[in-house]
Amino acid sequence: MERDPRAPRQHDSRQHGDSAKPAWSGKPAEQSVYALSGLRHNQLALFSPCPRGLEMTLVAELNALGASNVSKVDGGVAFNGDADIMMKANLYSRTASRVLLKLAEGGYQQESDIYQLAMQIDWPRWFDVSRSIKVKTDAIGAQLRSLDFVSLKVKDAVCDRFRQANAGRPNVDTREPDMRIHTFLTRDHATIYLDTSGEPLFKRGWREETGEAPLRENLAAGILLIAGYDGSQPLLDPMCGSGTFLVEAADIALKRAPGRNRRFGFQRLREFDALSWEALLSEARAAELPVRDLAIKGSDRALNMLPIARANLQRAGLADAIELQAQDILEARPFADSGFIVTNPPYGVRMDEQDALAELYPQLGDWLKAYFAGWTAHFFSGDLRLSDMIHLSVKRRTPLFNGSLPCRLFAIPMVAGSARREKPAADADNAADEGKDAE
Ligand SMILES: C[S@@+](CC[C@H](N)C(=O)[O-])C[C@H]1O[C@@H](n2cnc3c(N)ncnc32)[C@H](O)[C@@H]1O
Repeated sequence: MERDPRAPRQHDSRQHGDSAKPAWSGKPAEQSVYALSGLRHNQLALFSPCPRGLEMTLVAELNALGASNVSKVDGGVAFNGDADIMMKANLYSRTASRVLLKLAEGGYQQESDIYQLAMQIDWPRWFDVSRSIKVKTDAIGAQLRSLDFVSLKVKDAVCDRFRQANAGRPNVDTREPDMRIHTFLTRDHATIYLDTSGEPLFKRGWREETGEAPLRENLAAGILLIAGYDGSQPLLDPMCGSGTFLVEAADIALKRAPGRNRRFGFQRLREFDALSWEALLSEARAAELPVRDLAIKGSDRALNMLPIARANLQRAGLADAIELQAQDILEARPFADSGFIVTNPPYGVRMDEQDALAELYPQLGDWLKAYFAGWTAHFFSGDLRLSDMIHLSVKRRTPLFNGSLPCRLFAIPMVAGSARREKPAADADNAADEGKDAE
């Protein structure tokens, strides 16, 4: 599960245990409801969570889309913009997990304060009573017993606001709701968001089948962008699994908006402007490059993964553009003088898997050295032994999270004749490695 990121971790009561009682008492701090004149308000307060470690990549994406006041927090990015910016963030961001619209925030002490906060929002103005709803609550450091109970109180407030307006009450649908409402709590502060994305943004619509440990699409795209992939370099994923890097790389190369084939929560909002949305979508389609034979190749040694990857490529319209092969990574060879290897090896949970990986890493070093001069290898892994055991100079180690699992993206440029690290493995984290953990 992706951690909800909007507050510092040191306030996490789950880490501090029950001894971390609130150090204050009295009335909750002032609550404020955003005086939005609906979706057309040009200063919508927006927040996009993203996989931790990708915040600066998302900041760059949002700045490029014209968002204002873009600021990073741990695990997400806050920004302002009008309805077009909100729709563009949903359509174009490769790394955001969602785009949330902030409707109200304020201090709280108990559940009834959060109910009052939610009651202040003019819900019937945002969506019709015929829309089903789901409320979800995340928290870091909250002192309340049950987050489900908080969700229930917010749901009650939404229904009560509709009843006050003599509009009946919306139904709850926990599986496929029309409107998702997110409550986020820190120790003494609550924020209520309307989710403009609906299904999370990593669901692009092309991946129906996966292998055992697939990467989320937005994390894979972020890894490619951090690696410096811009669509012009040859790219090989020799442990491609279900093909996530391959499709995300092709989308970058073909300038395809990741959200072009899916629906969004904002389409169900009362003030949804279908004409503006159609115009944005047409603009995105006009910018796409025609599908062609791409310098992107994938392989995997698991014979059962290839049909899965093939089906995913097919659904993404890339069946003829990307070549797939069944082979062990050590049999893969370069198909250009230079390029990027971007791959995520298995992490190895069981002891025998750990042993197999310990045997594989030095072989990977030899394989890169023998065949891939001129290429840069990018390994994304939660197994931090890789950088020592591959016996090559790691230029950069970027900390990233796969859900809650701390990982690194190891960048290893293969300059002919110079990449072999002659120092013993024990020196791994010393000066021989240029790259300490990158910020
Ligand atoms: C963590 S998964 C990759 C998941 C992939 N990124 C995705 O999103 O679906 C690791 C993959 O490496 C493959 N693999 C493991 N050892 C291999 C080897 N020696 N050569 C080639 N592929 C290997 C596995 O079959 C598996 O599909």
